[in-house]
Amino acid sequence: MLYQIYPRSFVDFNGDGVGDLAGVTAQLDYLVKLGVDAVWLSPIYSSPMVDFGYDVTDHCWIDPIFGTLDDFDQMLAGAHARGLRVVLDFVPNHTSDRHPWFEQSRASRTNPRRDWYVWADPDDDGGPPNNWLSCFAAAGSAWTLDAITGQYYLHSYAIEQPDLNWANPAVREAMTGVLRFWLDRGVDGFRVDAVHRLIKDPTLAHNPPEVAQARTGLGEHARLLRHIDQPGVHRVIRELRAALSDYEPEPLLLGEVGVADPERWAAYYGDGDELMLTLNFLFWSQPWSAAAFHDVIATTTRLVPDGAWPVWALGNHDIMRLATRYDRDGRGPSRARLAAMMLLTLRGTPLLYYGDEIGMTNVAVPAGDAVDIDGRDAVRTPMQWSPGLNAGFTTASTPWLPVPDARSGNDNVTDQQADPGSLWSLYHDLLALRRSTPALSGGESLLLPTDGHVLAYRRAATRQCVLVALNFDHNPYSVSLPADLTGGQILLSTDPRRQQRACGGMVELAADEGVIIKCS
Ligand code: NOJ
Repeated sequence: MLYQIYPRSFVDFNGDGVGDLAGVTAQLDYLVKLGVDAVWLSPIYSSPMVDFGYDVTDHCWIDPIFGTLDDFDQMLAGAHARGLRVVLDFVPNHTSDRHPWFEQSRASRTNPRRDWYVWADPDDDGGPPNNWLSCFAAAGSAWTLDAITGQYYLHSYAIEQPDLNWANPAVREAMTGVLRFWLDRGVDGFRVDAVHRLIKDPTLAHNPPEVAQARTGLGEHARLLRHIDQPGVHRVIRELRAALSDYEPEPLLLGEVGVADPERWAAYYGDGDELMLTLNFLFWSQPWSAAAFHDVIATTTRLVPDGAWPVWALGNHDIMRLATRYDRDGRGPSRARLAAMMLLTLRGTPLLYYGDEIGMTNVAVPAGDAVDIDGRDAVRTPMQWSPGLNAGFTTASTPWLPVPDARSGNDNVTDQQADPGSLWSLYHDLLALRRSTPALSGGESLLLPTDGHVLAYRRAATRQCVLVALNFDHNPYSVSLPADLTGGQILLSTDPRRQQRACGGMVELAADEGVIIKCS
């Protein structure tokens, strides 16, 4: 399992209220105990933090808020010593406007770095060159006029995040050099940010009226957009992949492909020569419904090319916490348990966002304390380690984002580790079972038709077969078992109250219960 750490919020080792690399190092044993195989760290590079690290000023330096290159090396060595791999966030689409490359680019129209970014003349009326929109509503247009040279520059995100021009070979070479820098230091791969945006329509034509208001590639008709998901992007990704092929073992390339159209999304795997894994926006956008998840799993499985493998995630630093998103009538906690079983039993790589293993929910941040440009503070709050001050995240009096003060129940790591019926313990047990059960870790998968209540699939490896049955309903539901499962044994249930383990020809699932049954 891959585990996403948002470093500002994991552990604050130096007590300044913001998480850091020494904090990650201090909790490596925690990750091992949970059963994590690899961590992905959101950006740790030098940055003015307009977009909390996704605006980079030096790709080969650690921002002092997180520590130093020495701290990084120690963290990496500590991870490797424990068998954990480390995946860094690589932010290729844009830099900070304070990156020296952009400072040179904007200095004059003839600067050698001018063409490292996307510049265009104003429209006839002096406005932006076209109608493209930034992904962040606060930024409005994707273009900002630069007074010094009288041209507009493109920014797919904040005004302070100018887009690099990946059509320029010098940019591709420089950014490949960044990957080599970190690989030579020993990292195991990259999560590639906004990879579907790297190439834009070179004619800079307007987006057609149907998509004139679209900010992302996730809506209807998104295929019509001219600045997202352009055909030329695949050549660039192939080039990146090839450039890394001399490293042994080959580094992971996990791409953030914000494209909802399933065929176009799957194209980013290429012919085994583009991304190894692609984040699946469609999966985490589903409503809580057995039928909806059945369909997205079926589509994903059908489209991922032979020899490749999906990645399953329900949380990250941009979207609502899963325990909040699926909460209806107080069912968030039980649904989070069912989601855990689904994530860890589907065929593919599970990806977990820090804190989801204890069911962290969105934390209300008072408007006056909001810090994120795009309203995502609620899902980035400090990890809740203990029932103590600031949930054990920091010794500072004020963490950079609030910790919920009236923490209800046992929503912290310490208490949940001591409770065999907690969500943490369920994640732990699921990960242990996945590791010791070849049918779950690498077996073939067969999705069974759904009746709209239960999502069920078989996983099978040589001489081993299990059935996973997940009741999405809030009523008990009986599932009749196929012949080879009659007399099977329930290996794990999401419901800590379950007593009966032996199955006859039927299994009676409690409300919101999921089970893993071993064939007899
Ligand atoms: C996607 C990242 O996940 C998000 O947090 C960031 O704001 C944008 N890309 C821009 O880098």
